[in-house]
Amino acid sequence: MSDKRELDPNKIPRHIAIIMDGNGRWARKRKLPRVMGHKAGADSVKDIVKAAYELGISYLTLYAFSTENWKRPPLEVQALMGLLRSFFGDGVDSLVQKKIRLHCIGQLEQFSGDLQKLIKQAVSDTDKAAGSARGLTLTLALNYGGRAEIVRAARMLAEKCCLGEIASQDISEDVFAAHLYTVGQPDPDIIIRTGGESRLSNFLLWQASYAEMYVTRVMWPDFRRADLIEAIQDYQGRERRYGKTGEQVLNSR
Ligand code: IPE
Ligand code: IPE
Ligand code: MG
Repeated sequence: MSDKRELDPNKIPRHIAIIMDGNGRWARKRKLPRVMGHKAGADSVKDIVKAAYELGISYLTLYAFSTENWKRPPLEVQALMGLLRSFFGDGVDSLVQKKIRLHCIGQLEQFSGDLQKLIKQAVSDTDKAAGSARGLTLTLALNYGGRAEIVRAARMLAEKCCLGEIASQDISEDVFAAHLYTVGQPDPDIIIRTGGESRLSNFLLWQASYAEMYVTRVMWPDFRRADLIEAIQDYQGRERRYGKTGEQVLNSR
């Protein structure tokens, strides 16, 4: 694929995470209701999942609904739930065909029973289809909040301490990370935010510690394969130092 040739195959990020923002502004610019922006955003999801799969990305995490998004007008929340229902209902076939494994993170237990059922079914269908394939894992962050995730992990560890299953001095960064929703996944290499805002909005707070940030003014419903490739190219030009000096990084190559 020609666009694949523009990328350095040795520096393909393993994990790309995206804050899909700008649906409302995209719609407002077109004098459409905000909900139409969310609908159009669903097409970007399909396109980007396909592109990530074709580019050989191992993990793609999409921020679809935050713990704070419940504060939106009830009709908008309802419409977003409807879009999730149709994604988990009909959108899963293409994942099954490509052996893309679906994973969901967040407080799923707060969703309605029927949506929870659809999510469970979709996850298990893709899991069965993927088998031992080591292709793309698509993670959807739904009713997800980074702080809530950290508090949940702290609570789990506190309970284990009370039960004598773990000693407090044995709680390391690795042990803590093993109690997060993202256990078993590498941290994101790059976090892309569409819509132009430079903030994390409670997304992957723990996991983002050394992610490269990439903010684009492109609104999510306009974000396509070419924009993803541009973001990866930008990432490939960065020097990841992890606290070391630039010279140390050069010498270790
Ligand atoms: C992102 O787009 C979608 C969700 C947060 C669910 P927004 O709806 O936040 O769009 P803007 O930021 O208002 O343009
Ligand atoms: C972040 O977008 C959440 C998702 C993309 C799901 P928001 O639009 O909710 O973020 P803020 O409110 O601008 O920080
Ligand atoms: Mg927004």
